[in-house]
Amino acid sequence: MSALVLDNIGLLVTNDAAIGEGPLGVLRDAALVLEGDRVAAVAPAGAAADERLDAGGRCVIPGFVDSHTHLAFAGDRSDEFAARMAGRPYEAGGIRATTDATRRASHAELRELTKRRRAEALRAGTTHVEIKSGYGLEVETERRLCEVAGEVTDDVTFLGAHVVPAEFEGRAGDYVELVCGRMLDACAPLARWIDVFCERGAFDAEQSRAVLVAGREAGLGLRVHGNQLGPGPGARLAVETGAASVDHCTFLDDADIEALAGSKTVATFLPATDFSTRQPYPDARRAIDAGVAVAIATNANPGSSNTTSMSFCIALAVRDLGMAVEEALAAATLGGANALRRSDVGRLTPGARADAAVLDTTSYVDLAYRPGVPLIAATISAGRVVEVLPHSLSGAHPM
Ligand code: NIG
Repeated sequence: MSALVLDNIGLLVTNDAAIGEGPLGVLRDAALVLEGDRVAAVAPAGAAADERLDAGGRCVIPGFVDSHTHLAFAGDRSDEFAARMAGRPYEAGGIRATTDATRRASHAELRELTKRRRAEALRAGTTHVEIKSGYGLEVETERRLCEVAGEVTDDVTFLGAHVVPAEFEGRAGDYVELVCGRMLDACAPLARWIDVFCERGAFDAEQSRAVLVAGREAGLGLRVHGNQLGPGPGARLAVETGAASVDHCTFLDDADIEALAGSKTVATFLPATDFSTRQPYPDARRAIDAGVAVAIATNANPGSSNTTSMSFCIALAVRDLGMAVEEALAAATLGGANALRRSDVGRLTPGARADAAVLDTTSYVDLAYRPGVPLIAATISAGRVVEVLPHSLSGAHPM
């Protein structure tokens, strides 16, 4: 197989402390040798290969792993956002508006919208995404959402238990039965994960547990939306059921932190949601210091966080969640991989998937230091090079 070398990397983040300096495993003046869709080697600059691309001294990081998105939906809720900015509080009920639009959309439309959003994320440096269903809330649309998500990622999450749809108002128990029965039967073959929104206004602890247990019996891994709008049982339920992650974590109390610290459940922070809903930011520092494994993700969705930018989430995590830049970068790459229980992404080490982001700068610190500036020069996804800034890999020096 012919090898491609990404050469003249000023600063390479591998996320492997055994390969380079510090917890990020950083190397200076390095080269990345790729064979097909895999990393073949990490080497000093000047490594030989069949084909050579010049990174021009830029910083190269593992591609972002966005472990929490809702990219499969139709419709727009910019009016709701504008109203919220004018003082109306965020409520989970807005999900139903997207459900109406999503149910009306054709399969071709849903496929096109999902692919377009996936492409947007790729241009922003995200090389792996998880995508949830959850805007169908009836069997066929949930199944269709899992199907279109599966066309762009192998981390598909069935989220039939997002909220109780209007037609089941006052009959949440009946809806949970549908989710755990016919809907799960239709979606489980297309998904890797099951998720539940365990929150006041969505599903309580008992209903959430029922959904998770049914999902596990159907062979799915578990994820939980929890502690988003207030304190609640989500984080502890995630630990109790052995979920891979509990996501949001805006309101964690001491007992939640203690439970998470003694578990393998990753606490995934979604700071763009707190930004877009004007909620308080969680204290990630407290969780990290207690020994909790953490990730950050975009939660890209039309209601509470309409962004695919992991760089923006890193900037927020550093500015407002108390993370060091290195911690935020690790949480956006390796942390996301851990939250998805994957060892093939989130790192640039031999054997890993050849997923990288080439920054148009010499240091990853700029991801937080220069918020809002488009810093992705190129993305490499499973060995395929996507130049975001034309000619950025021809050797020109970054700004
Ligand atoms: O993560 N928490 C539940 N689901 C989404 C909300 C999506 C929406 O408002 O449409 C979230 O914030």
